[in-house]
Formats: sequence, C-alpha cells, structure tokens
Amino acid sequence: MRVLVTGAAGFIGSQVAQLLLREGHRVTAVDNLCDAYDVRLKEHRLRALTQADNLEFVKADVGEREQMQSLWQAQGPFDAVINLAARAGVRPSVEDPWIYYSTNTVGTLNLLEMCREAGPSKFVLASTSRVGRGAGGRPKLSGGLRRRRPRNLGGHRQGPAGPRLGTPARTGGRHRPDGRVVP
Ligand SMILES: NC(=O)c1ccc[n+]([C@@H]2O[C@H](COP(=O)([O-])OP(=O)(O)OC[C@H]3O[C@@H](n4cnc5c(N)ncnc54)[C@H](O)[C@@H]3O)[C@@H](O)[C@H]2O)c1
Repeated sequence: MRVLVTGAAGFIGSQVAQLLLREGHRVTAVDNLCDAYDVRLKEHRLRALTQADNLEFVKADVGEREQMQSLWQAQGPFDAVINLAARAGVRPSVEDPWIYYSTNTVGTLNLLEMCREAGPSKFVLASTSRVGRGAGGRPKLSGGLRRRRPRNLGGHRQGPAGPRLGTPARTGGRHRPDGRVVP
C-alpha cells in the first residue's frame, strides 16, 4: 500500500511509519518539524526513517491547504492516510489556541477533503491522549476534563470504510507533566 503518514517525525507517527516500512509499504512522511518540543528529537527520528528506500519525507504543514494539494499531486494517489500531525500538549493550547485550531482542526479537514476529492477511503485519526476506554469500551476523559466537558466524541469508531478515530494510549515511555507519554 501507499500510505501518507502525517506527523511522521512525532512520537507516534515515527513508530507508525517504521512499522509500515517494515511491512513493505511505501510511505510518504509529512511533518512541519514545529518547535512544540526539541526539534533535534524529531530530526533524530527522521534520520532513522529516511534511510529506507520506500519512504519520502516532505516538510509541509497540514493546515496549509495549498501545500496539501501540491503534496497530493506530487506524491499521490494514496491508499490510506494516517493523520498523526498534531499539537498535543494541553497547557500551551490555552496560550495559543490558533495554532491548535490550524493543525488539529483545519489540518484534519484539509486531509479529509483531499480524501473526498481524490481518495483514499481509509483515513485514520488519532484522538486526544486525554481519552481512554471506560467501562464497556465507552470513551472516558482523563485529567478531570470530564467535569468540564459534558460530552466527548473521541474514541468513536466507524465501520472499515469510514474514518477511524482511535487513541494510541498506553504506549509506554515516561509521562510528561501534562500527562502525555514521551519515549
Ligand atoms: N503520545 C501519547 O501518549 C498519545 C496518546 C494518545 C493519543 N495521542 C495522539 O497521537 C497524536 C500524535 O501524538 P504524538 O505523541 O506523536 O505527538 P508529537 O508532538 O510527538 O507528534 C506530532 C507531530 O506532528 C507534527 N506537526 C505539528 N503540527 C503540524 C502541522 N501543522 N503540519 C505537519 N506536522 C505537524 C509535529 O512536528 C510532530 O512531529 C496526537 O493527536 C495525540 O493527541 C498521543
């Protein structure tokens, strides 16, 4: 399969890309290498990935529609999109909500629109790391968010043809002060 992995220099994205490469898939890896945390860590992950022949890295911003359109024209068509590009820390989102909106909301919309216009039908989106599985597999928010938000739609799964929203929780590693896990 030809797979587009966004956020490929990130903690989860780099592991997903590595796994896909190991299974013989062709990967287009996208990341804007933002400075949400030390960029050297992202560059280190990318160095390991870009040694593979069947991976192409493109530095691009999922929130920029024209960049995504050019990417699709140059690298597409894709059989699947795995969208792991994200602004994920909770506290900085209060200081700069716009960058979160641009990446997490507009970026996801851009990718969904590309899929709608040109395929593919398989789209995987990681939900927030604040979502876990509660009793009976129902989504459950952690960190006291449940009290502040009446309803959470994360963790919901659709059929095989529709978008999938899942949480790569319990990934191992150590926890950061905001509760996220890093290698
Ligand atoms: N790490 C966890 O424990 C965990 C648990 C559950 C869910 N998740 C979810 O998985 C996703 C990825 O998390 P992560 O831990 O790998 O985060 P991460 O910050 O390590 O990776 C995100 C990557 O996206 C890139 N990025 C940010 N904005 C971008 C943009 N506009 N365009 C292109 N690339 C951009 C960053 O440079 C980074 O490399 C997030 O949605 C997160 O909420 C993570």
